[in-house]
Amino acid sequence: MCGIIGYIGSRNAVDVLIEGLKRLEYRGYDSAGIAIIDNETGDVVRIRSVGKIKTLSEKLIGMNLSGNIGIGHTRWATHGPPTEENAHPHTSGPFTVVHNGIVENYAELKEWLINQGYSFESETDTEVLVKLAEYYSKNELLDERQAIMKALKDVKGSYAAVFLAKSDSRKLYGCKHESPLVAGISDDGVYVASDVPALLPFTRKIMYLEDGDFIELTPDGVQVFDLNGNAVQRRFEVVDMNPVAAEKGGFRHFMQKEIYEQPRALSDTIKPYLSMENYKVFLPNAAYLSDVISAITKIFFIACGTSFHAAMVGKYVFESFLNIPVEVDLASEFRYRVPVIDDKSLVIAISQSGETADTKSALSFAKSFGAHTCSIVNVVGSSLTRLSDAVVYTHAGPEIGVASTKAFVTQLAALILLGLFSYGILKDDKEDVYSYLAESLLQLPSVCEEVLRRSDSLRNWVHEISVAKSCLYLGRNILYPIALEGALKLKEISYIHAEGYAAGEMKHGPIALIDESMPVICLVQRGILAEKMRSNIEEVVARGGNVFVLADEAIKDSGFSESLAKKVIWLPSVHEFLSPIVFAIPLQLLAYYVAVERGTDVDQPRNLAKSVTVE
Ligand code: F6R
Repeated sequence: MCGIIGYIGSRNAVDVLIEGLKRLEYRGYDSAGIAIIDNETGDVVRIRSVGKIKTLSEKLIGMNLSGNIGIGHTRWATHGPPTEENAHPHTSGPFTVVHNGIVENYAELKEWLINQGYSFESETDTEVLVKLAEYYSKNELLDERQAIMKALKDVKGSYAAVFLAKSDSRKLYGCKHESPLVAGISDDGVYVASDVPALLPFTRKIMYLEDGDFIELTPDGVQVFDLNGNAVQRRFEVVDMNPVAAEKGGFRHFMQKEIYEQPRALSDTIKPYLSMENYKVFLPNAAYLSDVISAITKIFFIACGTSFHAAMVGKYVFESFLNIPVEVDLASEFRYRVPVIDDKSLVIAISQSGETADTKSALSFAKSFGAHTCSIVNVVGSSLTRLSDAVVYTHAGPEIGVASTKAFVTQLAALILLGLFSYGILKDDKEDVYSYLAESLLQLPSVCEEVLRRSDSLRNWVHEISVAKSCLYLGRNILYPIALEGALKLKEISYIHAEGYAAGEMKHGPIALIDESMPVICLVQRGILAEKMRSNIEEVVARGGNVFVLADEAIKDSGFSESLAKKVIWLPSVHEFLSPIVFAIPLQLLAYYVAVERGTDVDQPRNLAKSVTVE
């Protein structure tokens, strides 16, 4: 995790770094810092603070720092707690560095450096990087570039790092291995950062860097090398991203804005891929996917967190629609079991950021068995997209709130699109089931507008839930993953303990938890399990549980007991495969309202980061 940025050019670097860091804060926000070369003294000035970028900016007020070259960092602690000493940048002799990633062999390198007479001021793994560069420059008389390259060759693990060197060269040096890094250029100078949105206020001319790239930045441009100093060709491209999409646009929180823009996000994801005229699905890499889908015998979905819940829904859809065996794995577990996987397997990774370390590693692991790979990703050009044989982009737009909302529903839509595409390849008779699903998918954005309108009544539930110590979410079948997702949303932003259960499992243990203080949020879909779900709910009511129900309006007539009816919100009835989206939206809003009521930091909940780039 962590976000890094560097700038060299004609503007005041302090302003550029702070503006960029604000946009990187989703990657971590427990401490932050910048270092610039001061225009007056020519010295490196380093300012760090515990807490968010706001605290760092406040510390900078009145310092009147001015410099045209600098680096900045926002941290999510891995090695060492969030203290000023552990905050980046770290410095040694003429070198100062910001780093995102993990130096896995840092203990060994640290011991070696201590034996060479170095002492350390922080508990971070990063400090070895900068001390090694200094060591090689001083003892082997290497120039700046060679010293940094040699230091990087000693490192095992992942890194994106930017080095500032206090010398006449006036250069920044960047490098990337398994953590993201992009460079940017404008008339005002040259930039480097963990991701594109951090650079959007300054430029849309972006260079995506690859693993093993080493860059040298001067005010006029960027040169790319490999770690042996050989020149590498990379080019700048103009990215099609709208900086305004990353603003709050009148909403109080990013999460709230992102929940309300889900109809738009769904429409942007569905319409480019699905023809309104003939319901044909157009996917990029269609020829490859078509060959693979006709040949495979098994699909694996791998993902983490909310994206894993999307993967669970994917299993229901693919198995029942396509009759293909599907396995779903938490990416962090997948590599550590012995999956039966080969070149007749398709592994589909799902990730908003495309940078989740566990998901990337799991995909590489799958590739080592010869499996075919596809990823469903939101961030264009992210690492996962480069690792995969095929990519289906969700077009949710930048998701800034740490809790995933619009990315989740668009992942579900992308899964359905992939399901329709595969159906077109595998099945001869396309007429009824295919057209019904395609038509329903096209109507989904307007259905979700209606869901948002109806969700206003959720406000009546908020107080009772916000004072609870713990909550249960119950669902069955395709809504079971949504029960898990509802519980995850609540715990991550309101800090209330919550668990999702398959409702039929309650009687096997969890029902012992039920008493009057336990809110139980139940999801009821029409179909064969509606009756069973209703019985599960009555079992909870009979034990004094405080039940809240979200239910498909198609079962309205069959009703609930009178006492329960007050706590039911009826949702539009949709195709079974789309009901996870319709039920997820009110659960996101419920978590949001409860968090606001409890006064937590909705967009940046404690201990979390948007992009989890460490394993
Ligand atoms: C929860 C949330 C996380 C992410 C998970 C995977 O709201 O956002 O659980 O879903 O960290 O991230 P991506 O999708 O970027 O791989």
